[in-house]
Amino acid sequence: MCFFMTVRPIITLPDPQLRLVSKKVTKFDARLQQLVTDMFDTMYDAPGVGLAAIQIAVPERVVTVDVSPKEDEPQPMAFINPEIIGHSDEINCHQEGCLSIPDYFEEVERPATVTVRYQTVTGETHEMLCEGLLATCIQHEIDHLNGTLFIDHISRLKRERVTKKFIKAARRDSDD
Ligand code: NI
Repeated sequence: MCFFMTVRPIITLPDPQLRLVSKKVTKFDARLQQLVTDMFDTMYDAPGVGLAAIQIAVPERVVTVDVSPKEDEPQPMAFINPEIIGHSDEINCHQEGCLSIPDYFEEVERPATVTVRYQTVTGETHEMLCEGLLATCIQHEIDHLNGTLFIDHISRLKRERVTKKFIKAARRDSDD
Protein backbone atom coordinates (compact mmCIF):
# COMPACT_ATOMS: atom_id res chain seq x y z
CA MET A 1 0.00 0.00 0.00
CA CYS A 2 1.25 3.46 -0.85
CA PHE A 3 0.64 6.76 0.85
CA PHE A 4 1.23 9.95 -1.02
CA MET A 5 1.94 12.77 1.35
CA THR A 6 2.12 16.22 -0.09
CA VAL A 7 3.64 18.56 2.42
CA ARG A 8 3.82 21.99 0.85
CA PRO A 9 6.24 24.72 1.98
CA ILE A 10 4.80 27.19 4.49
CA ILE A 11 5.49 30.85 3.80
CA THR A 12 6.65 32.96 6.74
CA LEU A 13 6.91 36.58 7.83
CA PRO A 14 7.75 38.96 6.10
CA ASP A 15 6.39 37.30 2.92
CA PRO A 16 3.96 39.91 1.51
CA GLN A 17 1.55 37.17 0.37
CA LEU A 18 0.50 36.83 4.03
CA ARG A 19 -1.17 40.24 3.65
CA LEU A 20 -3.34 39.23 0.66
CA VAL A 21 -7.12 39.02 0.96
CA SER A 22 -7.97 35.49 -0.20
CA LYS A 23 -10.62 34.84 -2.84
CA LYS A 24 -13.89 33.02 -2.30
CA VAL A 25 -13.98 29.40 -3.48
CA THR A 26 -16.61 28.89 -6.20
CA LYS A 27 -15.67 25.47 -7.61
CA PHE A 28 -16.13 22.47 -5.33
CA ASP A 29 -14.12 20.10 -7.48
CA ALA A 30 -11.28 17.57 -7.29
CA ARG A 31 -8.72 20.38 -7.23
CA LEU A 32 -10.29 21.73 -4.02
CA GLN A 33 -10.26 18.23 -2.49
CA GLN A 34 -6.56 17.96 -3.34
CA LEU A 35 -5.82 21.37 -1.83
CA VAL A 36 -7.57 20.39 1.43
CA THR A 37 -5.69 17.05 1.54
CA ASP A 38 -2.36 18.81 1.00
CA MET A 39 -3.25 21.34 3.71
CA PHE A 40 -3.95 18.54 6.23
CA ASP A 41 -0.66 16.82 5.30
CA THR A 42 1.20 20.12 5.72
CA MET A 43 -0.58 21.03 8.98
CA TYR A 44 -0.01 17.62 10.64
CA ASP A 45 3.61 17.55 9.46
CA ALA A 46 4.39 21.01 10.89
CA PRO A 47 2.74 20.19 13.38
CA GLY A 48 0.03 22.80 13.86
CA VAL A 49 -3.61 23.00 14.94
CA GLY A 50 -4.73 25.21 12.05
CA LEU A 51 -3.72 26.29 8.57
CA ALA A 52 -5.07 28.78 6.04
CA ALA A 53 -4.46 28.16 2.32
CA ILE A 54 -2.53 31.42 1.95
CA GLN A 55 0.12 29.96 4.27
CA ILE A 56 1.00 27.58 1.44
CA ALA A 57 0.76 30.50 -1.00
CA VAL A 58 -2.76 29.71 -2.25
CA PRO A 59 -4.93 32.85 -1.87
CA GLU A 60 -8.27 31.05 -1.47
CA ARG A 61 -10.71 31.01 1.43
CA VAL A 62 -9.87 27.54 2.73
CA VAL A 63 -8.99 26.65 6.34
CA THR A 64 -8.04 23.35 7.99
CA VAL A 65 -8.21 22.81 11.75
CA ASP A 66 -7.64 19.98 14.23
CA VAL A 67 -7.75 21.01 17.88
CA SER A 68 -8.21 17.49 19.29
CA PRO A 69 -5.86 16.55 22.17
CA LYS A 70 -2.71 14.72 20.99
CA GLU A 71 -3.67 11.45 22.71
CA ASP A 72 -7.12 11.39 21.04
CA GLU A 73 -8.15 10.37 17.54
CA PRO A 74 -7.49 13.11 14.98
CA GLN A 75 -10.48 15.35 14.23
CA PRO A 76 -9.70 16.99 10.89
CA MET A 77 -12.08 19.82 9.99
CA ALA A 78 -12.11 21.78 6.73
CA PHE A 79 -13.87 25.12 6.39
CA ILE A 80 -14.47 26.57 2.92
CA ASN A 81 -15.44 30.27 2.72
CA PRO A 82 -15.80 30.50 6.51
CA GLU A 83 -17.28 33.65 8.05
CA ILE A 84 -18.06 34.67 11.59
CA ILE A 85 -21.78 35.44 11.85
CA GLY A 86 -21.96 35.89 15.61
CA HIS A 87 -19.76 36.13 18.69
CA SER A 88 -20.04 36.29 22.46
CA ASP A 89 -19.46 39.47 24.45
CA GLU A 90 -17.29 37.38 26.72
CA ILE A 91 -13.60 37.63 25.86
CA ASN A 92 -10.97 34.91 26.22
CA CYS A 93 -7.23 35.32 26.39
CA HIS A 94 -5.19 32.53 24.77
CA GLN A 95 -1.54 32.21 23.95
CA GLU A 96 -1.28 32.04 20.15
CA GLY A 97 1.41 31.07 17.73
CA CYS A 98 1.48 30.79 13.94
CA LEU A 99 3.28 28.46 11.54
CA SER A 100 4.10 31.56 9.47
CA ILE A 101 5.71 33.26 12.49
CA PRO A 102 7.68 30.29 13.90
CA ASP A 103 8.71 30.15 17.56
CA TYR A 104 6.84 33.29 18.58
CA PHE A 105 3.95 33.17 21.06
CA GLU A 106 1.87 35.91 22.57
CA GLU A 107 -1.40 36.28 24.47
CA VAL A 108 -4.30 37.43 22.28
CA GLU A 109 -7.80 38.50 23.38
CA ARG A 110 -10.73 37.37 21.24
CA PRO A 111 -14.44 36.59 21.72
CA ALA A 112 -14.75 33.38 23.76
CA THR A 113 -17.30 31.82 21.39
CA VAL A 114 -18.13 32.45 17.74
CA THR A 115 -20.68 31.11 15.29
CA VAL A 116 -19.11 30.26 11.96
CA ARG A 117 -20.92 29.77 8.67
CA TYR A 118 -18.90 27.79 6.14
CA GLN A 119 -19.11 25.34 3.29
CA THR A 120 -17.87 21.77 3.18
CA VAL A 121 -15.55 20.51 0.43
CA THR A 122 -18.67 19.40 -1.43
CA GLY A 123 -20.27 22.84 -1.15
CA GLU A 124 -22.88 22.26 1.56
CA THR A 125 -23.46 25.21 3.88
CA HIS A 126 -23.18 24.60 7.63
CA GLU A 127 -23.08 26.63 10.81
CA MET A 128 -21.01 25.72 13.85
CA LEU A 129 -20.80 27.15 17.35
CA CYS A 130 -17.10 27.21 18.26
CA GLU A 131 -15.82 27.42 21.84
CA GLY A 132 -12.50 27.14 23.65
CA LEU A 133 -9.42 26.42 21.55
CA LEU A 134 -11.55 25.92 18.42
CA ALA A 135 -12.96 29.46 18.79
CA THR A 136 -9.46 30.91 19.07
CA CYS A 137 -8.14 28.82 16.21
CA ILE A 138 -10.94 29.52 13.72
CA GLN A 139 -10.74 33.28 14.39
CA HIS A 140 -6.96 33.18 13.88
CA GLU A 141 -7.36 31.29 10.58
CA ILE A 142 -10.20 33.48 9.26
CA ASP A 143 -7.94 36.47 10.00
CA HIS A 144 -5.36 34.91 7.62
CA LEU A 145 -7.97 34.92 4.83
CA ASN A 146 -8.23 38.67 5.29
CA GLY A 147 -4.48 39.28 5.41
CA THR A 148 -4.48 39.74 9.19
CA LEU A 149 -1.92 38.08 11.47
CA PHE A 150 -2.20 37.44 15.21
CA ILE A 151 0.58 39.96 15.80
CA ASP A 152 -1.87 42.63 14.57
CA HIS A 153 -3.80 42.02 17.81
CA ILE A 154 -0.83 42.66 20.14
CA SER A 155 0.90 45.91 21.09
CA ARG A 156 2.58 47.91 18.34
CA LEU A 157 5.89 47.71 20.17
CA LYS A 158 5.82 43.91 20.32
CA ARG A 159 4.63 43.67 16.71
CA GLU A 160 7.43 45.90 15.42
CA ARG A 161 10.01 43.98 17.44
CA VAL A 162 9.00 40.56 16.06
CA THR A 163 8.58 41.90 12.50
CA LYS A 164 12.11 43.36 12.56
CA LYS A 165 13.48 40.06 13.84
CA PHE A 166 11.93 38.17 10.90
CA ILE A 167 13.05 40.79 8.34
CA LYS A 168 16.62 40.46 9.64
CA ALA A 169 16.47 36.65 9.55
CA ALA A 170 15.13 36.72 5.97
CA ARG A 171 18.02 39.00 4.94
CA ARG A 172 20.52 36.70 6.59
CA ASP A 173 19.08 33.73 4.71
CA SER A 174 19.22 35.50 1.35
CA ASP A 175 22.86 36.54 2.00
CA ASP A 176 23.92 32.92 2.56
NI1 NI B 1 -1.42 31.50 11.68
